[in-house]
Amino acid sequence: MRVTRLATTIAVGSAMAATAAAAGAQEDYSYARRLYLDKAQCSYCHGWAGDGAGEGQSNGGAANLRQSRLNRAQLVTTILCGRPGTAMPHFDELAYSDKRCYGMTEADVGKLKPSLPPGSTLQPREAEAIADYVLAKFVGRGAITRAECEESFGKGARACSDQPAKTP
Ligand code: HEC
Repeated sequence: MRVTRLATTIAVGSAMAATAAAAGAQEDYSYARRLYLDKAQCSYCHGWAGDGAGEGQSNGGAANLRQSRLNRAQLVTTILCGRPGTAMPHFDELAYSDKRCYGMTEADVGKLKPSLPPGSTLQPREAEAIADYVLAKFVGRGAITRAECEESFGKGARACSDQPAKTP
């Protein structure tokens, strides 16, 4: 009798865990998306879909984040510290003021020091939220879809009419 009740408890418990996991898959990325598009303006260089197609005025050559092989920690570091010698800016305002970035100070990094971003600088937790967004929405995705576009700009958005309704 007791054994049966225990088994039931376990079964109910794991069903709840499964529901929680399914809810997790539906996680709301609207906060991180706003950081990516508006506050940090990653999209200025990387494009709204992370494919590297930024605005015409940007310096170009931004990485295609959909093909990135970086893990979460590496993404966070790249965002906060930028990439020395490239146009990828540092979003931590205090990067290179001490050794927090790649163990390098301003003197160490010299003229390879990444620039400040065109948008706002970020707190570490904001960079983490963006890294999660990049992993969930860009990395490993193939061609950009209309569904994905409407997720960013709203259903029926004119900006999305060029996107294929389905991935070819
Ligand atoms: C001023 C333009 C610019 C902005 C703004 C910018 N990036 Fe970049 N980013 C670049 C360039 C250029 C590279 C390629 C660097 C290189 O050649 O290695 C890059 C590289 C990266 C990489 C490395 C990808 C890889 O797989 O190696 C990541 C990740 C990244 N950017 C994320 C972001 C995020 C997230 C934001 C916003 C918080 C952002 N970037 C804002 C220009 C930009």
